[in-house]
Amino acid sequence: MIEQLGCGTTRSDELSALRTVAPAIAPSLLMCDFGNLKREIRRLEETDVPTLHLDVMDGHFVPNLSYGLPVVETVRRLTKLPLEVHLMIDNPREYIRRYRQAGADLITIHREAVADPRQALEAIRDCGAIAGMALNPGTPIAALECCFDLCDLVLVMSVEPGFGGQKFERVALSKLRELRARLGSEVLLEVDGGVNDATIAECAAAGADLLVVGSAIFKHSDYLARVRELSRLAHGS
Ligand code: DX5
Ligand code: ZN
Repeated sequence: MIEQLGCGTTRSDELSALRTVAPAIAPSLLMCDFGNLKREIRRLEETDVPTLHLDVMDGHFVPNLSYGLPVVETVRRLTKLPLEVHLMIDNPREYIRRYRQAGADLITIHREAVADPRQALEAIRDCGAIAGMALNPGTPIAALECCFDLCDLVLVMSVEPGFGGQKFERVALSKLRELRARLGSEVLLEVDGGVNDATIAECAAAGADLLVVGSAIFKHSDYLARVRELSRLAHGS
């Protein structure tokens, strides 16, 4: 199991560890059983996923409200797995340090939510976390050209953010291919939304290193079997 940042690992250690296991599944904690969070996390740890994806929503940037700092702090206490916090919030710049202190190892903010993406990415790196920038389906890659050099990770949304269980938008595949061609293998590419048995292989083939999966895991009872099957499909075996 990859250990969380801060246990003697650096950003670059963590990045290379994630690259080594790519393409890998990142379970999205949005549709899990929050009434049994400890049990859910233990079951996810058994699957050997390299990170957990925590979907933070503020009801402003997206039309849904999920959870915030207390849940991230709780998950941090429950596992040593690296935690990616996907901030679907307005003014993410104001919360970066607090989510890092809450235990985030990777902090992914939305390009649509920041006026100065460079300053926001620098703030994430300055607090020692891996710096991710997300693009909604309708946001072109050109919106990242001003900050490519500061992105440790680019999250390509394959749904409009805000809800699990939505239909995969195929525009994400061409964006993944273009990003891989332009950024090379250094930057982690991630895809999020509607990733399932029918779409995961194309996402991996298009260049995704991290494949965020929500309903295609949590709508089933056997998480281990689901992650194994999805990983098999992602690796084309
Ligand atoms: C949507 C979130 C996704 C979502 C994934 O705004 O960012 O992480 O929970 O869920 P599925 O895999 O069901 O689309
Ligand atoms: Zn997400």
